[in-house]
Amino acid sequence: MEQKKEHPFVTNEEASTRGEKISLNRAIAIIGAGNMGTSLLRGILNAKLAPQNKIIASGTHSAKLEMFSSKWKINHTLDNAEAAQFADIVMLCVKPYTIGKVLDEIKTALREDQLLISIAAGVTIESMQHRIGKNNPIVRAMPNIASTVDEGATAVSFGRFCNEEHQRIAISIFEAVGEVVVVDEHQLDAVTGLSGSGPAYIYMVIEALIDGGVKMGLPRDVSTKLAIQTVLGSAKLVKESNLHPAILRDQVTTPGGTAINAVHELESHGLRSMLINAVATATLKSKELSETINK
Ligand SMILES: NC(=O)c1ccc[n+]([C@@H]2O[C@H](COP(=O)([O-])OP(=O)(O)OC[C@H]3O[C@@H](n4cnc5c(N)ncnc54)[C@H](OP(=O)(O)O)[C@@H]3O)[C@@H](O)[C@H]2O)c1
Repeated sequence: MEQKKEHPFVTNEEASTRGEKISLNRAIAIIGAGNMGTSLLRGILNAKLAPQNKIIASGTHSAKLEMFSSKWKINHTLDNAEAAQFADIVMLCVKPYTIGKVLDEIKTALREDQLLISIAAGVTIESMQHRIGKNNPIVRAMPNIASTVDEGATAVSFGRFCNEEHQRIAISIFEAVGEVVVVDEHQLDAVTGLSGSGPAYIYMVIEALIDGGVKMGLPRDVSTKLAIQTVLGSAKLVKESNLHPAILRDQVTTPGGTAINAVHELESHGLRSMLINAVATATLKSKELSETINK
């Protein structure tokens, strides 16, 4: 039986297993060249989705922007409308509270065939659509900080004017910096609670493991190296084996051994409940913030 595909087009991953290179052949504007804007630009260039002369970045600080564009050999402007006009794909990478101002600046310049991709947390597609007053296709994405090292986890949602081509473009861009899932927009709060905020939880786990090693006598640098590699390797094994984490945990818990005793300790302090509650709390907070931003 043929397997159901999640989306009916060729992704970066599928193309690369077939030895093909995907090119979007589109001009791209990156409005807001901060942490995430830089990650996405690096991914776009590494994946050869667009050549440097077809990319423009905009921001508010002239010197910073000049340094940025000369480092990446792309175009730059202090005028967001000019950046938008230049592009087929407009990436909105500014802070959520700046999105409204930026949309006001670019809306007159926007043509309805231009794709808008926003990564601003909490800002709904409907509110952006309303703000520009045009039928542009809009994609809303929630990436995470691991995009910086091409191990990002991004969820995308599509506005009502997005066709398959727009979906393919957005997925290709975020696949250039990691894994992509497609969700309904209302699920983006839960995505924020899980993968958006998740790196913070994992950093705490790593920090605590390091301290555990140090407490038991390991030098800090040794403990740090071991803790990081343990988290990285465990995640890689879950991903590559396709096994349920509980099965992998069972494989490392020898009867009466060290790991099962430690697992009991973690269970007695409610580790799993704590993490479930952390995701739930962050999800509710995201929903609350989103309601305030979109008012
Ligand atoms: N960081 C994360 O882990 C993460 C994860 C998921 C989603 N996001 C979303 O990604 C977005 C960007 O976050 P970030 O962490 O990359 O923030 P950031 O590093 O502060 O970048 C924001 C950039 O926007 C620029 N900017 C500010 N006002 C502008 C304006 N009026 N026009 C054009 N550019 C302007 C700033 O440049 P100037 O200094 O030149 O003004 C800055 O480079 C946010 O909406 C956030 O919700 C971030």
